[in-house]
Amino acid sequence: MKGILLAGGSGTRLYPVTKIINKHLLPIYDKPMIYYPMTTLMFMGIKDILIISSPKDIDHFSALFGSGEKLGLRIEYAVQEAPRGIAEALIIGENFVGDDSVALILGDNIFYGHDLPVILKSAVEENEGATVFGYYVKDPERFGIVEFDKDYNVLSIEEKPSKPKSNIAVVGLYIYDRGASEKARNITPSDRGELEITSVNQLYLKEGRLKVKILGRGFAWFDAGTHEAFIESSTFVRAIEDRQAFKIGCVEEVAYRMGYITLEQLDNLAEELRKSTYGEYLLRVVKEEEGRF
Ligand code: TTP
Repeated sequence: MKGILLAGGSGTRLYPVTKIINKHLLPIYDKPMIYYPMTTLMFMGIKDILIISSPKDIDHFSALFGSGEKLGLRIEYAVQEAPRGIAEALIIGENFVGDDSVALILGDNIFYGHDLPVILKSAVEENEGATVFGYYVKDPERFGIVEFDKDYNVLSIEEKPSKPKSNIAVVGLYIYDRGASEKARNITPSDRGELEITSVNQLYLKEGRLKVKILGRGFAWFDAGTHEAFIESSTFVRAIEDRQAFKIGCVEEVAYRMGYITLEQLDNLAEELRKSTYGEYLLRVVKEEEGRF
């Protein structure tokens, strides 16, 4: 399975902060926002990742991650000329994905919860067409909303409905079989001029090949794209990291725990960062791991 991480967009909800700086490079507490969705893809066992961003920002991401080799990843980069919608990522990434299946994640989505890696891995393994994730929200008018029958079969998905049929929103992580790019090429832009990912999901639904996995009460999900959510997610990460002494979204640690890099490689990465509490944390992980062998 390949991964696409979408880190373009216009970021107008965070203006003036994001007038110059790409939102996904801003810190959520102690690390750039993009680290969180990056680790989510890594938890799915994905190593081949395409980062898509705007022409003015793409070089910043390649400066940050390079070829991905240091994390045991193969990262490629592509440009989205203008924010023409999330589904366009599937068209831009068509050659990159090839005949593989793909997980598409939005760069401002943060997931946290017990057994998340297990749930993600089983979603990947069980996927037959498309799998999306649902999360209970209090403001359904702002999201793609799923309607279910009493057995939790999906009846409809509506983008930003004025009369929502449930409170279950589709979050920014989508798993697709190899047909997704072709579907994205066949949809037309919505009234707001975007290629909506909801339109792609509706095509899978029509074929009876759309599954929704609900992330229940034990999960935290943030779309960190507003000032409120930005600070809330930072505070959340800080609280968890402070309480549990584990970090969330630490790409180097996840690379090690997923078996993508060795302890020695992790140690080298930690050394480069040692002056920050982030680097101190990685050094502590290295020490603890050395103690285990
Ligand atoms: P949105 O929330 O749709 O938009 P945004 O956050 O860029 O902009 P605004 O604040 O103006 O609403 O985007 C969700 C995520 O998807 C975000 O991480 C940016 C990314 N994105 C793209 O990379 N390209 C696109 O064309 C769109 C629509 C979004």
